[in-house]
Amino acid sequence: MASTASLKLDDKEYPLPVMAGTEGEKAIDTRKLRAATGYLCYDQGYGNTGACESAITYLDGENGILRHRGYPIEQLAEHSDFVETAFLIIYGELPSAVRRKEFGLYLRQNAAIEMQMQRIFEGFPKDAPPMAMLSSIVASLAAHYPHLATNNFEKDLKTFDLAAAMAISKIRTVGAMIYRYQKGLPPIFPKQELPFCENFLHMMFSVPYEDYQAAPEVARALNLLLLLHADHEQNCSTSTVRMVGSSAANLFTSISAGICALSGPLHGGANMAVMQMLQAIHDEGDDGTRFVQAAKSGEKSHRLMGFGHAVYRNFDPRAKIIGKACDDLLKKLGVKDPLLDIAKKLEETALKDDYFLSRKLYPNVDFYSGIIMRALGVPMNMFTVIFAIGRTPGWIANWREVAADAKGRIYRPRQLYVGPVKRDYVTMARRAT
Ligand code: CMC
Repeated sequence: MASTASLKLDDKEYPLPVMAGTEGEKAIDTRKLRAATGYLCYDQGYGNTGACESAITYLDGENGILRHRGYPIEQLAEHSDFVETAFLIIYGELPSAVRRKEFGLYLRQNAAIEMQMQRIFEGFPKDAPPMAMLSSIVASLAAHYPHLATNNFEKDLKTFDLAAAMAISKIRTVGAMIYRYQKGLPPIFPKQELPFCENFLHMMFSVPYEDYQAAPEVARALNLLLLLHADHEQNCSTSTVRMVGSSAANLFTSISAGICALSGPLHGGANMAVMQMLQAIHDEGDDGTRFVQAAKSGEKSHRLMGFGHAVYRNFDPRAKIIGKACDDLLKKLGVKDPLLDIAKKLEETALKDDYFLSRKLYPNVDFYSGIIMRALGVPMNMFTVIFAIGRTPGWIANWREVAADAKGRIYRPRQLYVGPVKRDYVTMARRAT
């Protein structure tokens, strides 16, 4: 690998240092480019920009590889669970048996939502979008626990373990409470003895006179779903968390911003959009063939949701795992979902079509996740909330990297200005009507 790159501008040559990651990724260091040349790097959407060094997740989109702290997602999906993977992502190593137990206990001890905070719910209309509620309530954690959210990195890092446990555990509790609030049901409080996913299902589906008993395959499917969403490199919401965190904003505020970013249909909201698409295809009596034809128009409004990815140019490895899990779960539960048949037909048709093949558009994680959530009894408007619960460890780990980086700077991109050039103020009387 070259040790320097060379850039020629206006007959002058500028050497630019070259950097390499631990997996052999190569980068040209342009940090001094503007000062040296007066030019800035233009990279709309940041597709070619490495905004940070990170030791959390390795993603190779060309080869469909995803690893957390070095461990392949396939191995984590097979052997680990969400809580253990969360620990790995946040702290960098798989926990010992003792640390795993302590971490689980810490999550349980920090699951409850205090009375004062429960009152926030009352201010929301019953049909408020769940992600809007979630981001506001998570932002309010900074108001309820100001000693954990001082907006001073040094202080906030000292209380990081508690803030991280609260974020993981309480976001899950708030998610369940949002579901119940919208249904007009009283909140169900977390139980100390239940594991993370069983506790979530209990808070969602128990009623005051009868506890919900999660079938093992249901709890396993939820565990897998959360684990597969736990981190995904510098995606839109994680970059947002890092951007907000870089101003020294506390963990809760930064995560709340990440939740807002996740809510869009091109990011976390895609799981809902997939189900809406499958339902519409079903309602129109199409088996997916007509829809695939329309998706080839190139119009954004006709996109095949759950297909394509900003960085994968090959199968999303999470989609492979989730597709199989979806099949297994529905078989075990004895559920026959016509939307699964449509999804399979869409996948089969698209993967034979040159439009999708030539553009390297394959199913992403959201293509089958909605069908699993439907089988678990989760309504469509809660899908992205489940994604947010899953993604919280990744946001936490990324915030911590920003906060712990002694050489870190506030994230502040530049722009290529294309507006009007300097002109003189026009008085009202002289302006056109
Ligand atoms: N259906 C039809 N055409 C598509 C699709 C699609 N889903 N995705 C991309 N294309 C076309 C696009 O129109 C372009 O065509 P052309 O070259 O003729 O102009 C070409 O494929 C290349 O698109 P791209 O540059 O790879 O797309 P992008 O990087 O701008 O967008 C994406 C990535 C994920 C926003 C996009 O693929 C999409 O809108 N997919 C559907 C939404 C979706 O499923 N999002 C979830 C992403 S996974 C969850 C997460 O990690 O957040």
